[in-house]
Amino acid sequence: MSETREETSVVFALSRRADLDALRAMLGSEVRVLGEATSYREASVLIARHQPEVALISSQLPDGDALSWLEQESPLGRTKLILMAPDPKPEDYRTAMRLGALDLLSLPLNPGMVLESLRRVAKGPGERQGRIITVFATKGGVGKTTIAANVAAELAGRRQRVCVVDLDLEFGSLCAFFGALPEQTMADLVRRRGAFSLPLIQEMMVTDPILGVPILASPLTPDLAPTVDGEGKKEAGRNYVAEVLRMLRLGYDTVVVDTASRFSEATVAALEMANTVLLVTAPDVPALQSTAKGLTVLVDKLGFQPDRLKLVLNRANAAIGLTAQDISRFLDYPISYRLPSDGDSAVRACNTGVPIVRRRRSGPLARALAALAQEVGGPPARLVARRSVLRPLGSRR
Ligand SMILES: Nc1ncnc2c1ncn2[C@@H]1O[C@H](COP(=O)(O)OP(=O)(O)OP(=O)(O)O)[C@@H](O)[C@H]1O
Ligand SMILES: [Mg+2]
Repeated sequence: MSETREETSVVFALSRRADLDALRAMLGSEVRVLGEATSYREASVLIARHQPEVALISSQLPDGDALSWLEQESPLGRTKLILMAPDPKPEDYRTAMRLGALDLLSLPLNPGMVLESLRRVAKGPGERQGRIITVFATKGGVGKTTIAANVAAELAGRRQRVCVVDLDLEFGSLCAFFGALPEQTMADLVRRRGAFSLPLIQEMMVTDPILGVPILASPLTPDLAPTVDGEGKKEAGRNYVAEVLRMLRLGYDTVVVDTASRFSEATVAALEMANTVLLVTAPDVPALQSTAKGLTVLVDKLGFQPDRLKLVLNRANAAIGLTAQDISRFLDYPISYRLPSDGDSAVRACNTGVPIVRRRRSGPLARALAALAQEVGGPPARLVARRSVLRPLGSRR
């Protein structure tokens, strides 16, 4: 918007016609209303059609909630988002920002605040954020890197702008899954002075030779890991990983993060910033026991719920004497995805540096991984009616 008070184009969505009329009456001549919706489905169509500068959208509409809409559909493109929710709580603000909203207004609306917010958001830089998918497990060797690499490869094949980050800082092997040889890594990045710009981070990335997925590699030797996360940090007060992820999500549709199996500061940052966490487990007792311990931290301490923390049972058909139902009951948590065991595809893929979803798309493991990627990396949309304001509450199931 220029200083000469150009009009700001908006699309808005509220449940009731009467509320839409009231909102329209609040907006002065500096706002051009391109469309009004009473459902997310309609809002998506209007945004795609008119590409307004700003979308003012209610956190709940008759066909679902903003969380599902934004996580599953990526409807916004370059449109900036202001959410509206009745009596928002501090955690709703955090959720709104994580979803890429630039403001969260309290319903019923106050006309002065609506105009102030619209002016500020329209004038400000476009800070639409991509999504972060963090792949985590409490036990090593259960398939985190396999899943991270294949989710990224699948989304890149669907023309998303995707990058991957290897947060297994000591022994990361993500590059090998893409057949890429890094020259620079996160250790080189954190040696630089000052804030990390997106171009600087991109300079440190290596590109996957097939689909061109940029990879931010873990340090080349384990002794450098603490310079990124731990005692060896040049500036102890900085959370380098959080800074990197914050920048990357401005530059990509999806940032896929592979992790090591421990709750380090870096991992916790990647978990807390994630739109979706894939918690990987395997159908054996040691893996399940450690997953149960991990869930206590993730659910009870970090506040994750099944809308954001998805349990992935890898090698699901190798469940010797344990059904998926037994496992879900033991963990008191729903299993969102099951991936079949296929050692031939999995090991061949990491040995050749060609992700499974690119090698043999017809195999059952490739198909399961592709379906998982499409679901967590949206679209297509799958709107589900939920209960609460922004982050649905309720039991773990
Ligand atoms: N569904 C599967 N079926 C068969 N083998 C698999 C499957 N998923 C992964 N594997 C194999 O298991 C091994 C470990 O996988 P991966 O490296 O992805 O696990 P990880 O959790 O990242 O391990 P780490 O904790 O060491 O980083 C690899 O050899 C991989 O090919
Ligand atoms: Mg790994």
